[in-house]
Amino acid sequence: MKKILLLSLAIIAVVINYNCQKSAVSPDPSNVKLYLPDQPYEYSKVNTTIGKLNNYYEDMTVIDNDKATLGRVLFYDKALSLNNSVACASCHNQKNAFSDVVAFSKGFEEKSTVRNSMGISNLIDEVSIGYFWDARETKIETMVFAPIANHIEMGFDRLDLITEKISKLPYYAELFQKAYGTADITEDRMRNSMGQFLFSLVSQNSKFDEGLYKGFSNFTPAEIRGKQLFTENNCGSCHQISSGFSSSYGSTKFANIGLDLVDNDPGINGLYKIPRLKNIALTAPYMHDGRFKTLDEVLEHYSHDIENNSKLSFQLKDNSNGGPKRLEFTPEQKADLIAFLNTMTDKDLITNPKYASPFIK
Ligand code: HEC
Ligand code: HEC
Repeated sequence: MKKILLLSLAIIAVVINYNCQKSAVSPDPSNVKLYLPDQPYEYSKVNTTIGKLNNYYEDMTVIDNDKATLGRVLFYDKALSLNNSVACASCHNQKNAFSDVVAFSKGFEEKSTVRNSMGISNLIDEVSIGYFWDARETKIETMVFAPIANHIEMGFDRLDLITEKISKLPYYAELFQKAYGTADITEDRMRNSMGQFLFSLVSQNSKFDEGLYKGFSNFTPAEIRGKQLFTENNCGSCHQISSGFSSSYGSTKFANIGLDLVDNDPGINGLYKIPRLKNIALTAPYMHDGRFKTLDEVLEHYSHDIENNSKLSFQLKDNSNGGPKRLEFTPEQKADLIAFLNTMTDKDLITNPKYASPFIK
């Protein structure tokens, strides 16, 4: 009898414990300190050393400094996960151009995501394409809550609980007040401010951007050769560089590059969003499943390993026989292509304090 009692107590304890894990853990604000400048950082004007911006960014006046500041705090706040264990920034790290270094990231309960985390910059370019590897989210305000609600990433299946939880944190009232005129914490305001911060992550300070305005006179011979190889081999027909964004901006937005699709991820009917190559040297591992550890492995794929399949994009097909067109790069050509891809690295994006964690001094 005693044994049965003990056993049932143990079961009750396990059940209670399990239920607790599923409800939001209250944040402990006592050891949280925010380091924000007296005057907000400038988010409405894009930082550039090159003097001239792509037209697109010239009227980014839609971005409000106080709203983006609030968005920044939310982006770095672990309270946005059910058990205070991960923030957006856990999988989108500034020093990796807002991606992370693993093929699959660990969410709030240590479970792995099913896709590779993506670097974040110049999202405004992609309003007409959509976000995520399958471009399933087309509005930034909708997109920002997807990870919060995701059962692997941050775990809030009841989104009304998130505003309730955030309201208990003392530092938010003032931030909402500054951004929106009253201290009310609403889902819409969270969506808007996070969207503003994400849109403010503009990467326009790479050697490549500078090259666009200098006729590439700043490039080394190897970088020039790499740029030529990139254009001659049709890389640029998918990863558009003419616009200067090095993201998909032309008519081709989704493609299949002949990976042997061993996983069951269909993307968009066998196609994936063409990823932007801005800061590509910083966002390894590569592809939607993080299968390649280095740019050399990526080029090895385009050189020898493109597999035929019914979805293979025409740019990578051999016109004469309809099979895959493997590009057979020599080691020198690979080195030149990598030198070119390295020109996409933007130090400003990864070091600018306005994009860094406000919780760390
Ligand atoms: C546990 C890791 C993890 C967390 C936490 C996380 N993300 Fe992500 N993020 C990913 C992965 C993985 C993808 C790709 C998902 C897909 O394609 O289905 C992604 C994709 C994105 C993209 C799409 C970029 C593009 O180019 O299309 C954005 C933007 C983004 N995340 C923002 C956020 C924000 C904002 C938060 C916090 C609210 C967040 N992420 C939290 C892992 C994470
Ligand atoms: C037919 C369109 C197309 C062509 C041509 C193409 N790519 Fe891609 N590229 C893609 C797509 C789509 C992906 C993502 C595939 C996936 O994850 O399933 C990708 C991925 C990449 C990645 C990894 C990006 C990341 O964030 O993980 C790099 C680097 C890359 N391509 C470089 C090149 C180079 C260099 C060339 C020319 C030799 C090239 N691509 C040609 C469409 C293309």
